[in-house]
Amino acid sequence: MNTIIEPFRIKSVEPIHFTTRAQREELLQLAHNNTFLLHADDVIIDLLTDSGTSAMSSEQWAGIMRGDESYAGSPSFFRFEKTVKDLTGMGHIIPTHQGRASEKILFSITGGPGKVFISNTLFDTTRANIEFSGAEGIDLVCEEGKHPSILAHSKAIWM
Ligand SMILES: Cc1ncc(COP(=O)(O)O)c(C=O)c1O
Repeated sequence: MNTIIEPFRIKSVEPIHFTTRAQREELLQLAHNNTFLLHADDVIIDLLTDSGTSAMSSEQWAGIMRGDESYAGSPSFFRFEKTVKDLTGMGHIIPTHQGRASEKILFSITGGPGKVFISNTLFDTTRANIEFSGAEGIDLVCEEGKHPSILAHSKAIWM
């Protein structure tokens, strides 16, 4: 048997607060099933974002000490820009702190009234930024995609 282990060691742990199924159901009811009204402390696994929610590598922690916060011309930026250019081959790199901020920039340039953006299912902040620009967002999700509780092999029932 092949044993696959993660090729890293996690150096810090953060205790989390566990809830029972009954508590989660009550919390969801109180939040009217709106996950944005939940308190993050009550969420064991948060699937709303993966930005900044996981452990940092030792290189990333070390990078904080090497970071230069100059308002302009920071060597940290040039190091970051070169690395991202090398990885992506893109000519222009605009750092943003999170995905939702990137979408704000993207759709303020590409969006606007009369424009339409399609997706299998638009992420909530993506849709919000599209609609804020005056454009329209359309979800082209197949029938099975609207029923997350069904298993892949029961696909035939929707055909
Ligand atoms: C398309 C898209 N936009 C925004 C986000 C949210 O990311 P952030 O928390 O970095 O804004 C995600 C998260 O996975 C995403 O997939």
